[in-house]
Amino acid sequence: MPHDGLPAGYRLLSLESVDSTNAEALRRAQARETGPLWIRADRQTGGRGRSGRSWSSPPGNLYASLLIRLAVPPERASELSLVAGVALHRTIAMLLPTETAAGRLYLKWPNDLLLDAAKLAGILIESSITPGTPAITAIIGIGINVATHPDDLGRAATHLGLYGVETEPAQLLKRVAAALDLEIKAWLARGFRPIREEWTARAHRLGVEVSVNGKAGRIEGQFAGLAEDGALVIKLPDGSEHRVSYGDVSLI
Ligand code: BTN
Repeated sequence: MPHDGLPAGYRLLSLESVDSTNAEALRRAQARETGPLWIRADRQTGGRGRSGRSWSSPPGNLYASLLIRLAVPPERASELSLVAGVALHRTIAMLLPTETAAGRLYLKWPNDLLLDAAKLAGILIESSITPGTPAITAIIGIGINVATHPDDLGRAATHLGLYGVETEPAQLLKRVAAALDLEIKAWLARGFRPIREEWTARAHRLGVEVSVNGKAGRIEGQFAGLAEDGALVIKLPDGSEHRVSYGDVSLI
């Protein structure tokens, strides 16, 4: 039986306020909670974004984290980021009018969701390895701008309300949870290749000029797709290919 409208087997913790749903999930993971557990809060006082940034979290938007233990070897943990990105894109594409979603809603590596080139949603994944077992404990944090968006990001942002989509965060979580459950199951059953293809079909087009701030500093080149492990492949001006496993990507 589904619980709280979530897929079977998932539990839900709804909070009025928390520092960060990811931080709360991490605390519970440290206390040996294995999930699958969704934690949703109406607002966050210390919302966290990628690369140590903060995530503005007033009431009205969706802030939720899934704590889940997955029987995959640790070296495959990075694939989860793209699994979550596909689920997020799939969820929002179904809410928007078809003509709006087509081409205007796309993923940017690793899992930013952009609508009309403005940030609509983000994912922050934190995972820990379970020593002695081929398993990871993953925390998949998802923020979706539903009713408002921050205007001080230093880059364009947007929210669903501007496109006529009015939904309660708690209702939206049910859709996200169902899509993520299906995508995780597909990944576990069929491996990463179909996810990689889905992700690529839902991303901005190949050949677009990108700039990456990563471990190796700033690199510019053309988006050339995803490697077998989900790394970003960039074609450099000299024709060589460069793989990026961690970094912030901007479309030029
Ligand atoms: C990004 O920088 O794009 C990732 C943003 C992730 C925000 C979500 S909101 C729910 C969860 N809790 C957090 O503190 N962060 C994630």
